[in-house]
Amino acid sequence: MKIMPLEHRGISDSRLALGCMGLGGSWNRADDYTAEHVRQAEEAVEAALSIGITMYDHADIYTVGKAEAVFGQVLKNQPKLREQIVIQSKVGIQLSDGTLPARFNFSKKHILPSVDGILERLGTEYLDILLLHRPDPLMEPDEIAEAFTKLKLSGKVRNFGVSNMSPGQIRFLQRSLPDPIVVNQLEMSLLRHDWVDQGIHVNQKAGLKDNFPEGLMEFMQMENIQIQAWGPLAQGRFSGRPAEKASEAEINTAALVNQIANENETTPEAIVLAWLMKHPARIQPVIGTVNPARIIACQDAVRQSELMTREQWYTLLVSARGANMP
Ligand SMILES: NC(=O)c1ccc[n+]([C@@H]2O[C@H](COP(=O)([O-])OP(=O)(O)OC[C@H]3O[C@@H](n4cnc5c(N)ncnc54)[C@H](OP(=O)(O)O)[C@@H]3O)[C@@H](O)[C@H]2O)c1
Repeated sequence: MKIMPLEHRGISDSRLALGCMGLGGSWNRADDYTAEHVRQAEEAVEAALSIGITMYDHADIYTVGKAEAVFGQVLKNQPKLREQIVIQSKVGIQLSDGTLPARFNFSKKHILPSVDGILERLGTEYLDILLLHRPDPLMEPDEIAEAFTKLKLSGKVRNFGVSNMSPGQIRFLQRSLPDPIVVNQLEMSLLRHDWVDQGIHVNQKAGLKDNFPEGLMEFMQMENIQIQAWGPLAQGRFSGRPAEKASEAEINTAALVNQIANENETTPEAIVLAWLMKHPARIQPVIGTVNPARIIACQDAVRQSELMTREQWYTLLVSARGANMP
């Protein structure tokens, strides 16, 4: 049986990752985190571990550093936990400080202290994976390579990856980097299904509207790079939290997800994730819920991805597209 690229590389066999963007309270710099936020993080991690999730996704900007800080408190309270889990974080976005606009920064001068900040907040000596968060148009691969080499040699970072990047950008970077890029994290779900549309619209007028990098799915599989899906639950749109102005396709798809979940005696969350996980690329969904019950509702996703028939997969796709196949 085919295994995930991260498992193949001996980094993680966790089929799901827990996204930690919802931890730590508000995005307001003036607010500090509280004991309640630490308790929330502890409960989320406990629920995730209980369903076999051993991979945790962070970014230095999440709740302006507080997501990592509360996670650090969880690690401090459970010293044996660090060795049992895989932690990845991201650098490269600078939030607006009120004067300058939000911007991207892959300079060595930005990357190195950012990683020190992450390690300090998490209270750990190393990150399993460091991702570059969003492509910086001013990136210089040789300079990034210098930063990565320093991080690797000092033991601060063990593996490197990217997020929201095209095959061309990955190739451009990889030419200079000493280590393989192991992850690319992108928005993918039953709502954001252009990752499938891009492939089926080749030679079709409809393809002019697709906004997913051409050939990315094939490139990632050929290069053995893990595809991680952010936003995989579509923020609950098909599993109990419809958008205020939901389209007809969304309403129909939510009903279909529920119907399949009922027939299979499982949860809508498991079906929504299973649809992503059935793809042969072995996509790893990064679920963003921090609600313990909702985390546990994702438990059956792997089994459902194995049970899902081609017919169900295509029926969900056509429903989500709101249009038949070309
Ligand atoms: N690389 C990138 O550029 C990037 C960008 C964004 C996010 N990410 C990562 O990906 C992770 C997941 O992203 P995401 O949070 O956008 O995705 P998601 O998993 O699709 O959505 C999770 C969000 O939806 C809410 N939700 C889900 N089902 C719900 C329901 N039935 N009722 C009410 N609320 C519901 C959750 O609230 P509750 O917590 O209350 O359940 C949570 O706020 C993040 O945590 C982060 O680690 C990466």
